[in-house]
Amino acid sequence: MRTIARLFSAMIFLTITHMSCNNAPNKTEETQAATSSTAAAVTKQDFGQADGKPVSLFTLTNKKGIQVKITNYGGIITSWVVPDKSGGKSSIVLGFDSLSGYLAKPPYFGALVGRYGNRIAKGKFKIGDSSYTLATNNGKNALHGGVKGFDKQVWDAAFTDSVPALTLSYLSKDGEEGYPGNLKVTVVYTLSDDDELGIEYNATTDKPTVVNLTNHSYFNLTGNPSNTILNHVLKIDADAYTPVDASLIPTGVLQPVKGTPFDFTTPTAIGARIAQTGGNPVGYDHNFVLNNKDGSLKLAAVVTDSVSGRKLEVYTTQPGLQFYTGNFLDGSIKTSDGKPINKNAALCLETQHFPDSPNQPAFPSTVLKPGEQYHSITKYKLSVN
Ligand code: BGC
Repeated sequence: MRTIARLFSAMIFLTITHMSCNNAPNKTEETQAATSSTAAAVTKQDFGQADGKPVSLFTLTNKKGIQVKITNYGGIITSWVVPDKSGGKSSIVLGFDSLSGYLAKPPYFGALVGRYGNRIAKGKFKIGDSSYTLATNNGKNALHGGVKGFDKQVWDAAFTDSVPALTLSYLSKDGEEGYPGNLKVTVVYTLSDDDELGIEYNATTDKPTVVNLTNHSYFNLTGNPSNTILNHVLKIDADAYTPVDASLIPTGVLQPVKGTPFDFTTPTAIGARIAQTGGNPVGYDHNFVLNNKDGSLKLAAVVTDSVSGRKLEVYTTQPGLQFYTGNFLDGSIKTSDGKPINKNAALCLETQHFPDSPNQPAFPSTVLKPGEQYHSITKYKLSVN
């Protein structure tokens, strides 16, 4: 599979971090505590408990003072505070101030999604002659790893100040949510001094399985989810997308975007053609077939917001991008300061393999076998004009 690549670069990347158990502080953490009065690049604070385990909130700060907060509950990015063109500061991702917001199961806000991001039809697939039945949690389909996916697990965490970087690791046991094989997953978040949030995913298995890891951040570049993202302007480097049936499973067709509301090959306001997308509720919730054919790290999408002057670029090694306009948000979930989060309050650009790949032989394979290394990189780069 194409994500099993650049093992060498993954190893170099991983040498910058130290692995440790979350509830047993390692040397890095002790060092951090001893030097916390100096300008530290990563800090750790208590964020409550889940599954009887302590949960922490890590703050990654780069040399410019930009901060990203990530919890080891679900590997969730809870905030990414950046300046706008007038010097105001706000978070460009949906998130909560406390763990309770996440324990109430919001739709994957900021989370690491696995073992299989997106849908698998009827929660069934085969590898060779072996058939597997998954937990279904989205009508008759399996979505984002099942009832208790990686987004609801407490990950082990370790960090290093030099980059700064946070390494999260999780062992998904054989049979968890119906998936075969013990899957060892490591995700490394980094924040560069030029405001690039890197996410590097690695996994290995002891039985053939399927893997599709992604991050489910909801972006609103205005920094205020009371504004919709319909005036954001988007470009996606994709000449085709995968149309879906009523339950959002791809039909298998790679449909050229030309002449359709899915053509974002030139920068276009998200709201300009959203009413023509169909679906229930109406909006974008589709996988785009990126023009990136060789699995190298390439620019996949660019979003801009003229009011704040903010620009977000998405680079990935993945072949697909799920563009979702928060169609299912309906105001029932509230921000930490009590404001309803309504439809189109944010957008997701989930880098991934295509939905339902385990049942679609023509799509790039998501099978991972023992001895192979799952590896993918995504970078979200923020700038202000
Ligand atoms: C899916 C949507 C879903 C959302 C939250 C997206 O990745 O494509 O259909 O509603 O995640 O679960």
